Amino acid sequence: MRRIAIFDTTLRDGEQTPGVNLLPAEKLEIAVRLEELGVNVIEAGFPNSSTSDFEAVRGIAAEIGAATVAALARTKEDDILRAAAALEGARHPRIHVFTSSSAVHLQYMLRKSEDEVIEQSIAAVRLARRYVDDVEFSGQDAMRSNPALIYRLLEAAIEAGATVVNVPDTVGYAIPDEFGSLIRGIRETVRGIDRVTVSVHCHNDLGLATANTLAGLLAGADQAEVALNGIGERAGNTALEEVAMVIATRGAALGLETGLRTAAIGPVSRLVSRLTGIPVQPNKAIVGRNAFEHESGIHQDGILKERTTYEIMRPEDVGVIPNTLVLGKHSGRHAFRVRLQALGYALEESAQEELFRRFKDLTDRKKEVTDDDIRALAEERLVGDDDSFMLETFHVSSLGGRQATATVTIRRPGREPVREAAAGDGPVDALCQALSRAAGMAGTLVHYALHSVSAGSDAQGEVACQVRVGDRVVGGHGVSTDVLEASALAYLAALNRAQRWMARESATEVG
Ligand code: KIV
Ligand code: ZN
Repeated sequence: MRRIAIFDTTLRDGEQTPGVNLLPAEKLEIAVRLEELGVNVIEAGFPNSSTSDFEAVRGIAAEIGAATVAALARTKEDDILRAAAALEGARHPRIHVFTSSSAVHLQYMLRKSEDEVIEQSIAAVRLARRYVDDVEFSGQDAMRSNPALIYRLLEAAIEAGATVVNVPDTVGYAIPDEFGSLIRGIRETVRGIDRVTVSVHCHNDLGLATANTLAGLLAGADQAEVALNGIGERAGNTALEEVAMVIATRGAALGLETGLRTAAIGPVSRLVSRLTGIPVQPNKAIVGRNAFEHESGIHQDGILKERTTYEIMRPEDVGVIPNTLVLGKHSGRHAFRVRLQALGYALEESAQEELFRRFKDLTDRKKEVTDDDIRALAEERLVGDDDSFMLETFHVSSLGGRQATATVTIRRPGREPVREAAAGDGPVDALCQALSRAAGMAGTLVHYALHSVSAGSDAQGEVACQVRVGDRVVGGHGVSTDVLEASALAYLAALNRAQRWMARESATEVG
């Protein structure tokens, strides 16, 4: 078995998903969970792209112990210095230097000759090596590049001190055979290649990212660059959960293994979805909510007789605990806490107590509370902030779903409640407008998705939304048995997040 290193770029390439903006505290929360999952490298951000990315990388570098923490940098000196500064506290720091290698990138983006790109890359890798022992080098758009240039470029980078060479299919153009051949060509041709780790980084524009990544690994690459839920630029990156579970399920056939604790995949996938505001499509492999559901009678019958008739993986191996009916109105504190623990939530006393109170509220509105309901409650907790607006009351009246008015009352801790009303184009629009007025923040809903957490007409509705506030798009998430309340909670969560961004930005300006 060949051990494959898993390089997770959820916090860097994943954060380049349109409309995703993670606060440093949110990135840290995800990084801690990625380390528990057992990824080998966490690409924490691009420090020279913004103050907040710099801080996020610095915070993660200080916290993470076992995994390598990587920071992205162009071949520019100030990018590399900034990445090195952000990584100062890391136990295992890596600077990831990138340039481009395709003719179209050289001509239109870099406006440089091949020789100039090579010279610049050598200088950049050498500079990065003055600060860290581990330097990854990537030539963007490798798949559409002349292989002869890639060979020269990688050889030069290795000579200059790169320890990892990454081969990106930046625009998701490859097909598996072709990508495998590219990696094989690199392995056979590039001098010094055996001294370094060969990495693959695929995008999913044609839906082939996982297939191409596997082709690359089978052709001799030793590191896969992936993102949870497959998020990332455009159609996204190779999904971590897919590579992890192909290797876990078919490892014997592939001769590959990873060191991932795959049972942590489900919880961290849900965390990423909640913090980014990007819902996971229901039929998404491994982490979609239908991935372990069986609809037809024949399938259900088969599963009841023998699970392996229709299941090639066990849901618990990817952290999906079958949705069982567990608690109700008469369940006590102890039963609730035991269930929380069984679902993997190790929370402080005060958080458990607060969740128990919300669980009791829920049992007033919903007869049967399932594991999914409990998960939704637990995952709904916001990243610690005590200046957030809370929804106190809301009222909506709607005429045929079109003309609608809403009145809301919101309150920040220690302040007077604010009450506002607005008319809107439908109940959700009216609610959002009233909330924006009350919070004093104009927002535009750019994405809204509603799905039910469990079955039945009293099921909780879960809303994920993205809201543009000024020039920033922020995500929000809300759960309630009342879908309008879930909508209001999600919108307000997004406004709260926008407020935290604004507070950070003004603190940085003053500082
Ligand atoms: O897709 C890409 O080429 C990248 C590089 C920065 C590695 O994300
Ligand atoms: Zn990428």
